[in-house]
Parts: sequence; structure tokens; C-alpha cells
Amino acid sequence: MGGCMEKVTVPWVREQKGKEKITMLTAYDFIFAGLVDEAGTDIILVGDSVGNVMLGYPNTLPVTVDEMIHHTKAVVKGAKRALVVIDMPFMSYHESIEQAKRNAGRMIKESGAEVVKLEGGARMKDVIRAIVDIDIPVMAHIGLTPQSVHRMGGYKVQGKGGAEAMLIEDAKAVEEAGAFSVVLEAVPRDTAKKITEMLSIPTIGIGAGPDCDGQVLVLQDLLGFFSGFRPKFVKSYVNLRTETERGIKSYIDEVKSGAFPDDEHSFH
Ligand code: KIV
Repeated sequence: MGGCMEKVTVPWVREQKGKEKITMLTAYDFIFAGLVDEAGTDIILVGDSVGNVMLGYPNTLPVTVDEMIHHTKAVVKGAKRALVVIDMPFMSYHESIEQAKRNAGRMIKESGAEVVKLEGGARMKDVIRAIVDIDIPVMAHIGLTPQSVHRMGGYKVQGKGGAEAMLIEDAKAVEEAGAFSVVLEAVPRDTAKKITEMLSIPTIGIGAGPDCDGQVLVLQDLLGFFSGFRPKFVKSYVNLRTETERGIKSYIDEVKSGAFPDDEHSFH
């Protein structure tokens, strides 16, 4: 494994453009943040996917600033080396520039994260610039932006056909506004390659093919915690759902049968 030997910083991430691939994973709590960090992941994203993954919401829209801060505080305690990014949730940066700055500032101050991420391209450029101007690094997020699920009519690949030009404009706009990196979600591989070659900031892909400067996955997808529908771009490297179920069922069986606790697990 290559990688940054010391604490990962925003300048280090920027410098990886065209060099070493950047790895980013989500985490929402102390234990998984520690595991992800110790394994050598460069960036930990406390995504607003915490809403679907941990809080049982139907989508990311109900997630609040307080919930994001709560989870990020735990992640920061577990992350020693990785750069920690906190997602700005829906309606925490949409009302005004002042509201966006206030919430970005609060989220950095109270959570201990180092970077905020927010969704939207050209229409968010003034918001990005304002947050960058108060010295908070911004990771942009374009393509499939889950906070726009109702406008998009579902989670669909973005930037196909005629929509490619708009996506390219979004990418240019977030770079010009001062974002230090950009997530490309559910974008055709060739379009992601074009954008990656065009920008001077790193692109981090999820469902955007292999040519991005880095990749991100939701940790619970990688670990195989979900049954049922799995998006095409998700690769599960292990099946922890089955393993977890097996462990829990064994515990129940042993308690019911009296096999646990045995002598070995009792005090004398
Ligand atoms: O919230 C999230 O987990 C994200 C990633 C999927 C990029 O935004």
C-alpha cells in the first residue's frame, strides 16, 4: 500500500491528482471509523447516507445538522490518519449564503471534521465560494445528487446524452468556485473520464468508472450488510449480513438451550 504516511490533509488530497488513487469510505460511528482508518483509507466521509443506512429514513432528506454533528463527533474520535469530511444535509445550505456559512461553520466547529461536502453544481457556486472564503475546504458532489431524488424521479444515472454538457459545466463551476475535490456519482464512464482530464482538482467517483482520481463507497455496501436490490456500481467484498445473522442466531440458540454461558464464560 502506498498512501500518505502521516495525517491526510486537504493539500495532500489535491496533490494526488493524476498520481495515486484516493480512497474514500463512509463511516458513521467510532468503531467503524477506527477500522476504516487503521486499514488505510485516505478520506472518511460522514455521508448524509447516515439517514438511510443508520437511521432508517427512506432517503437522505430528513437528516438534520444535529444528526450529522452527532455521528461525526464519534467518527472523528476513531479517525487518526484519515481526512474527515462531513456532509451538509438537505436545507442546511439552500436558504441563503449566510445560512450556508453559519451551518458549515457550526458543523466544522462542533464535529471536529475538516471538510464539508455539499451537493449541486453551477447553481451552488456562490455557496461554495462563500464557504471556501471562510477557510472551510469544500468537497463538491455532482451527477446523481441524492438530495434531488424527487426532481430526478429516482436514483438514475446522470449526464447521459444531451445532459453531458450540463454536467461538464457543473464540474467546471465547482472547480472555479474553489472546491478542492468533487464527487461524481452515477455518471457514464466516458463522461467521468472527460471531466477528470479536464479538471485540475481530483474527482472521486461512485458509479463513475475507473478513470476518476479516487473512489468512494458506502461502507455497509462494501461489507455486504444489505440484502435485496444492489446498485450496479456496488461491490460487496464480504458478506457480513450473513455472518452477523449467523452470530446472532447462534447466541439465541445457545441461551435458549443453556449452552451459554458455559463454565469458561463464568466467574469463580
Ligand atoms: O452520503 C453519502 O454517503 C455520499 C456518498 C455516496 C458519496 O454522498
